[in-house]
Amino acid sequence: MPILGLTVPGPAHPPHFSLERLIRPNILSLEPYRCARDDYSEGVLLDANENAMGSVLPKKLDPVAAQTLEHVQGDLNRYPSPTHDDLKRKIAKFRGVPDEHWVFLGVGSDEVIDLLFRVLCVPGKDKVMTTPPTYGMYGVTAQVNDVGVVPVPLTADFQLDEAKMSASLAEVKILFVCSPGNPTGTVIPLDAIKRVLDNPTFTGVLVVDEAYIDFAPSGSSAASLVNEYANVCVTQTLSKSFGLAAIRLGYLLAPPPLVQILTNAKAPYNISLPTASLALSAVSDEGLAEMQRVAATLNDNRDTLIRDLRTIPRIGRVLGGNHANFILVEVLNKAGEPDVQLAMEVYKTLADSRGVVVRFRGKEPGCKGCLRITVGTEKECKLVTERLRELLQ
Ligand SMILES: Cc1ncc(COP(=O)(O)O)c(C=O)c1O
Repeated sequence: MPILGLTVPGPAHPPHFSLERLIRPNILSLEPYRCARDDYSEGVLLDANENAMGSVLPKKLDPVAAQTLEHVQGDLNRYPSPTHDDLKRKIAKFRGVPDEHWVFLGVGSDEVIDLLFRVLCVPGKDKVMTTPPTYGMYGVTAQVNDVGVVPVPLTADFQLDEAKMSASLAEVKILFVCSPGNPTGTVIPLDAIKRVLDNPTFTGVLVVDEAYIDFAPSGSSAASLVNEYANVCVTQTLSKSFGLAAIRLGYLLAPPPLVQILTNAKAPYNISLPTASLALSAVSDEGLAEMQRVAATLNDNRDTLIRDLRTIPRIGRVLGGNHANFILVEVLNKAGEPDVQLAMEVYKTLADSRGVVVRFRGKEPGCKGCLRITVGTEKECKLVTERLRELLQ
């Protein structure tokens, strides 16, 4: 059965992959919801039961609302565009995929991840593969959707364990690879990703989660592979390098057949007008230049933070590749060993009595006794270093 609404073909490689065979049959045959606005967006709009009188917002707005409205182009009493093609075109251009047919927008990448489960995995039957230590939402979303998880831990240096993965690849519909990883901060080389994509036992889709890609060296992104391979897609977000976590805008770069399937299954107006307007400003030439400047500053702060933390005797190794806006450090006991209990105590005391909140990751595979510390402003980095020094003295 063809994919409804598909107008642009995707890559034909690799030959062993068929999206049509992978998609849940009920999704493949789905007649998508259509609104009059899909066909007409101008004129006297009496099609969507909106409020013709306008919005009830008072003249004096709270500061965040006022700041948001400075960017909003359009009327708040109207439903937003179901497609936001202008935003997709901008994203396609700066991330290096051909056009808007290769971009799907979600309410954060978390919504994109959830939708991928819903279109690909039959509840109670299908499975996905994760590579711990990794982002927790893959497991949570799997459970919400009643989908099994096959965890294949990363190697000690936080790379894909290709031999172990190979044994179970045939069983899974989605493989989640986080690059740079959370909490590892380690980039997975494109060659390793390509080897999985070309492995004929893998008939599923490989999702590369690149939430932190703008903090990594250039050339690290798997976005280029989306143009070549039918069985890969890349999630990215405005929540990290763009500093816009509050607006909830994530996106998937994927071949048009997968984008079309997700579009057929999504809620009609999932991306709000304020979010799309702010996102458009963020990905303007000016916004992109600012994003790069800020990411470079945070990378400098990260290097300083690592250098300063290394002067604290009870802070152990800084693990992983340090290619994200966080670091992963061991807390050592008196014997000089990473200590889960001590890391937990430090985490709690830091938050409860020193006003600094970091993340305890000490029980994750390969992260024994570790804390994950987000790279903050210069002042925040100095503060967390001082507080840790006091506590671990
Ligand atoms: C690896 C990874 N992917 C995705 C997300 C979620 O991103 P978003 O804010 O776009 O939903 C996070 C958030 O921390 C993350 O660490």
